[in-house]
Amino acid sequence: MMNFDGKTFWITGASSGIGEGVAYELAKHRTQLILSGRNEEALARVADRCQTLGAATRIEAFDLTDYERMQAAVDSVLADGVKIDGLMNFGGISQRSLAVETPVEIDRKVMEINFFGTIAITKALLPHMIANGGGLIVVTSSVVGKYGITFRSAYSASKHALHGFFESLRAETAGKNIQITILEPGRIATNVSLNAITKTGEKYGIMDKGQAAGMSAEESARIILRAVRRGKKEVLYGGKATLLVHIRKWLPGLFYFLASRVDSTK
Ligand SMILES: NC(=O)c1ccc[n+]([C@@H]2O[C@H](COP(=O)([O-])OP(=O)(O)OC[C@H]3O[C@@H](n4cnc5c(N)ncnc54)[C@H](OP(=O)(O)O)[C@@H]3O)[C@@H](O)[C@H]2O)c1
Repeated sequence: MMNFDGKTFWITGASSGIGEGVAYELAKHRTQLILSGRNEEALARVADRCQTLGAATRIEAFDLTDYERMQAAVDSVLADGVKIDGLMNFGGISQRSLAVETPVEIDRKVMEINFFGTIAITKALLPHMIANGGGLIVVTSSVVGKYGITFRSAYSASKHALHGFFESLRAETAGKNIQITILEPGRIATNVSLNAITKTGEKYGIMDKGQAAGMSAEESARIILRAVRRGKKEVLYGGKATLLVHIRKWLPGLFYFLASRVDSTK
């Protein structure tokens, strides 16, 4: 069982939603938290609350697609002698557009943030973790990392890609004490639909009803940390959307019927 007390975690996507919720939950364990995202004002707000809850914090702001700034952040943290016990990857964006109308540049943008950004920060920290005898890597996929639905083609692809990468990495790091926990949330009440991009690359700006009615970020955080503590490899949680994973496995015909009819913008 992993113990969080006094440990150091690097959290991407810490400025909002699921990552912010996990930061607060981890802060209660007198942790050191390195908080990343682009929005420095939001990161400062999260850092303040984490400190109130008992954590020491450090803000490292960068865009997940800016590898130079990402590497500089990693170099500066490691140069200060900080030992990273875990990397928690929550940074990401969603999509609201039909594949037929979406230019490849938009598909690429979603992949750059969700897939390449996540593997880039992982690769930047992995040698440090291995040299220190191990560590934790949390990866945020989605239920749509397990199936595809309308309006999410690139998003779903980016999440599927994370499974392939991190399952391979798990196999490659066997015996090196690297725990990889892949999250597959259903619907969590965050700003993810507001921040999703459309076919033009602009913000969707609409709070989907299903999103607003989703599981709270606080409950999500508790589920994530319980699963991490228990060393789970995959964590499927977060309401009705998770049922489709089981339906796809056991009743594929029904899944394909439902997937084409579910309005995923509601
Ligand atoms: N909410 C759900 O129902 C749900 C379900 C399944 C999976 N997920 C996944 O959960 C993760 C967190 O999403 P959320 O629901 O918490 O949404 P959110 O509230 O919109 O948070 C997204 C986070 O990602 C960061 N981010 C976005 N683009 C970035 C970029 N280019 N560079 C660096 N950071 C970036 C944002 O920080 P800045 O704006 O400060 O950059 C923010 O902290 C995402 O990977 C999402 O795909 C969410």
